[in-house]
Amino acid sequence: MLNLGYWILNDVTWYKTNPMPNFLGTRFTNATETLLWCSKGENYKKYTFNHKLMKQYNDGKQMTSVWNIGLCIGNERIKGADGKKAHSTQKPEELLKRVILSTTKQGHVVLDPFFGTGTTGAVAKKLGRKFIGIEREKNYIQVAKTRIESINTLLPESNWLETLKEEQPKVPFVNLVRKNIIGIGELLYTRKRYNKKAEVLSDGNLHCEEHIGSIHRIGAIIQQTLSCNGWKFWYIFKNNQPLLLDDLRMQYVKGEYQI
Ligand SMILES: C[S@@+](CC[C@H](N)C(=O)[O-])C[C@H]1O[C@@H](n2cnc3c(N)ncnc32)[C@H](O)[C@@H]1O
Repeated sequence: MLNLGYWILNDVTWYKTNPMPNFLGTRFTNATETLLWCSKGENYKKYTFNHKLMKQYNDGKQMTSVWNIGLCIGNERIKGADGKKAHSTQKPEELLKRVILSTTKQGHVVLDPFFGTGTTGAVAKKLGRKFIGIEREKNYIQVAKTRIESINTLLPESNWLETLKEEQPKVPFVNLVRKNIIGIGELLYTRKRYNKKAEVLSDGNLHCEEHIGSIHRIGAIIQQTLSCNGWKFWYIFKNNQPLLLDDLRMQYVKGEYQI
């Protein structure tokens, strides 16, 4: 890349939390891949980096160049009519989400010349970005088209850049429990895809299966990521409607929330 005149801004290590084992046991299990993030040249400064957004995404801490993300498994993995994987190297959406969230704004165009099942296009669409995909295998093109056409909702993070301009209120989760805005023993729910729930404990921690921890920690465990902004992850049911914790917190801060 340097020889071509590009400038390497970061080499990001994707650490696979659930790598494929080396079955023969002849060497270490490969558990990383490298992403090169480059600008058009050493002095080219017109690139996008959403520093504040990524800090918010990373629960208030600067994100490092090591990304702990599991391989694409479970419901996310696209299967053919024969039940077999539609593509051998389908990437996890979380990986593309970080790439696209950190380096683009709404309406930007993302190019993926090796489109495969269209993970880049799917995440771009969910984040309100445009995309161009190039793929040489007709089967994969069809898989990608079907996948992307079925998407009709945006992820909450899609407009974070816009909402970031408003200062985020500092409210410890436990305060909402103490004020009885969230009841002890009440259940919080994840986004539909994860279909998990957790019970609120009196100290503001959550109890989910065998885990106990903060809204952020339990969110990260469920997603198999290093960190999670629990405010943007958990939903609570109020008046039989799902309400994002962050929206509940906003209502509380603005004095709009009535018990
Ligand atoms: C690693 S896979 C991409 C997987 C994709 N990110 C996903 O999540 O499904 C690379 C893809 O590039 C395609 N490909 C390889 N060489 C190509 C070329 N010269 N032109 C177009 N597509 C190509 C392959 O068919 C393969 O589907």
